[in-house]
Order: sequence, then structure tokens, then C-alpha cells
Amino acid sequence: MSNPFPDDFLWGCATAAYQIEGSPLADGAGASIWQRFSHDPRLMAAKGDTGDVACDHYNRMADDVALMKRLGLKAYRFSVAWGRVLPDGIGQVNEAGLGFYERLVDTLLENGIEPLCTLYHWDLPAALDDRGGWLNRDSADWFADYGRVMFERLDGRVTKWVTLNEPWVVTDGGYLHGALAPGHRNVFEAPIASRNLMRAHGAAVKAYREVGKHEIGLVVNLEPKYPASDSPEDQAATARATAYMNRQYLDPAIHGANPAELADVFGEAWVDWSAEDLALARQPIDFVGVNYYTRNVTKTDDSFPVRAGMVVQPQATYTTTGWEVFGQGLTDVLLWVKDNYGDPTIYITENGAAFYDPPTASQGRVEDPLRAAYLREHITAVGNAIEQGARIKGYMLWSLFDNLEWSLGYSKRFGIVHVNFETQERTFKDSAKLYSEVIATNGACLG
Ligand code: BGC
Repeated sequence: MSNPFPDDFLWGCATAAYQIEGSPLADGAGASIWQRFSHDPRLMAAKGDTGDVACDHYNRMADDVALMKRLGLKAYRFSVAWGRVLPDGIGQVNEAGLGFYERLVDTLLENGIEPLCTLYHWDLPAALDDRGGWLNRDSADWFADYGRVMFERLDGRVTKWVTLNEPWVVTDGGYLHGALAPGHRNVFEAPIASRNLMRAHGAAVKAYREVGKHEIGLVVNLEPKYPASDSPEDQAATARATAYMNRQYLDPAIHGANPAELADVFGEAWVDWSAEDLALARQPIDFVGVNYYTRNVTKTDDSFPVRAGMVVQPQATYTTTGWEVFGQGLTDVLLWVKDNYGDPTIYITENGAAFYDPPTASQGRVEDPLRAAYLREHITAVGNAIEQGARIKGYMLWSLFDNLEWSLGYSKRFGIVHVNFETQERTFKDSAKLYSEVIATNGACLG
């Protein structure tokens, strides 16, 4: 069979600022909600783990880009810490903070690696949280103004932009269940935060059309839901879960509408969107970024607020974050996006797995057969979706490095490059060697 990956397929890795950079307050940066959250023992699950040092990427950027080149990456998806650029979130630009991202982009380009820049990967400036954060309607303007600063400075060098990373996680983790910053637990806040996030997305895309000339898109985390049985109850639970997790942000962004199921999910906490808000959220975008980790076999239950639960699969492999390994789900969800959202250009903007790694990195090798198998299965699944007509232009593996897995701290290792957090030594895992070969053969080595 011929190789499904087009010659210009963009093979890359993804990271996020707070998870790898360290030095969160360096050079005049303003604190983020993650700075506060990770330092608050009442909130952070992995107490004592913070982003203060992380992978020390802020100080090791040039070496890290050299390492990306050794891997053969064609692209690198990173995020900008908003508070480095605008310490108060709005107003005065901090040239030193912006300078870090200019140097990163220049170094990537010098090494032939295409930058994909995400504006928001969860680290809202704390000063804006003090004004209500994503609950404040002004957040759309704050975000568009921040975007404009970045576009004006970098659009000549960055040609692929992402507004938000995973608005579902921002809302579900940050405002509904409280596992992530800012740690709120309030069902009435969740629909308001969602609406403002999507207004902010739309406002940033509009700003981009004024000053940018290239591509901008939205990144969503998608977890296909398969009903556990044919019962009407399980089918309805699956529809609710799909609306809540997979359609809640794509529907307004692309169709300018909200899934009807959300009013049922949120009950009296649901807020209708005005025609203006729907119109603002629905801006033409150049691509959809899909983050895929797992699927969910769904049954009805009493869980709040979606009333849908997960059926554990006894035969399956699970990662150390408790996620079922299911490559077919990636093919299915990519085709679902193609069929339901107007056959958009798609980038896989994250895909990867946390497994236990043996502590042998000091001997120069980390064997991680489960991660390598996961990657083989999932990259093959991407190829299958391309063969079935999905217009997929690139794959960004999560993640380049072991890093701060948010409230779970350093306990979950997603990297293909092992990081010793005491010495900062980086070691290619076997999965990194596999990925290098995948890139070098444009995927053909998996065939
Ligand atoms: C996020 C990453 C995170 C990864 C693994 C995604 O939801 O964008 O920041 O580390 O999943 O949990």
C-alpha cells in the first residue's frame, strides 16, 4: 500500500509554556493563575510541584532547539506565557518577555523547524484573574489585544497560530471541577467561562485578519464517545457527553450554534448566547487542531452534570493517567470532524501517552515500549484517516519532554525525551528514536 502521508506533512512535537519553561517571573513577567495555583497546597494535587524550574527551557532554549533538530522535527508547537509579554495581561508590553519568544522563533527558523504558536495554553495572567478572569466579558478584548501584540511582532516569522488550547479543559478543570487553575467549583460559572472563551477566540481571529496574513485556528481536545449499549438511556448519555466535550466549542466556532443537549446538561445554570456572541465566536478559521488521547465507552449514570460515565474495558491497555489506549478512536474522531465541520484542514496538535519509564536514563537509554507502541498505533490511525479522505496536514506529538503535568506534577511522564528533574539532563527515549525514523521516512517505516 502506498504511504498515506503527503510529502509536505508536518511532523512535530508540542509543549506548553508553564509545563516546560521554568523561571515564571523572570525578566519582568507577571504571575499567572498557574503560579498561584501550584503554590497553593489547598489546590495543587501534587503538592510541592510547581513550574518554578520545570524543564528550565527558558534558560536552555537554544540547546533544546538543537535537540529538536537532532530528532529531525519539521515543526514545533509551543505556547506563549501571556504574562511574560503583558505582565498585567493588558497595557504595557514587556519587551524582555516578548524577546524570549522572538529568539525562540528565530532559533527554530535557523534550524529549519516551523513554529506553531499557541496564544493561550491555560496560564492566564493573575492580574486578569483578579478582574474575574474568563468570567469577565472584557476577556474577549483583553485576549484580542494580546493577540494583536503577538501578531504584529511575529506574523512575519510565525505562519501558524492557535488561539486557545482546549477551552473544554479550561472550563471543566478550571471553573467546574476545580482540578486546574483557577480552581473554582461552580456549575453556574462554567457556561459563562465557555462563552467568554469562545468570544475571545473569535475576537482574536478578527484581530488576526486585520494584521496577520497566514493561518489561525482553534485547538480542541476530542474524545469520541461510543455508547455502551443500544439502550435509549446509554444513547442519550452518549449524546450528552459528545455535546459537552466534543461539540461545545466546535459548534459555535464553526456552525455559530450551541448543541441543544447543553441546556439539558447544565439545567438552570445554562445561559443562552445572544446573536452577537454567536456571531463573534463564528469566525472563519484556517484549520482545526485536534488533541486526541483516548476514547470513552459511555453509559448513563448520576455523575454531575453530564450524567454519563465511562465503562472500563477489561482487555485494554491503560496509560498512567488512566486513559485507554485506542488508536481507532483517532481515525474515527478525525473522520467525525471531517464529516460534521465542513471538511476542514486538520492538524493533530497533540497525541501521546504517559507511562512509567524505567529509571535507567543515566545509562543513556530509556526503554519505553508501551509509548512506542502507542505512537505506532496512533500515527497509523492518522494515516488511515488520510486514506479515508480527511485533510490532515500535520502531527504534533505530546510531548517533546517529560514536564509538569499540571496538578499531577512531575509524576506523569509524557515525553519522548526523558528529563532528569534534578540535573536537567535530557535523554532520548526509545520512542524518540522511533519518532525520528517516522519523520525521516515520512511515516513509511510504519507501513
Ligand atoms: C493538554 C496538555 C496536557 C496533556 C496531557 C492536554 O490536555 O493540552 O497540556 O499535558 O493533555 O494531559
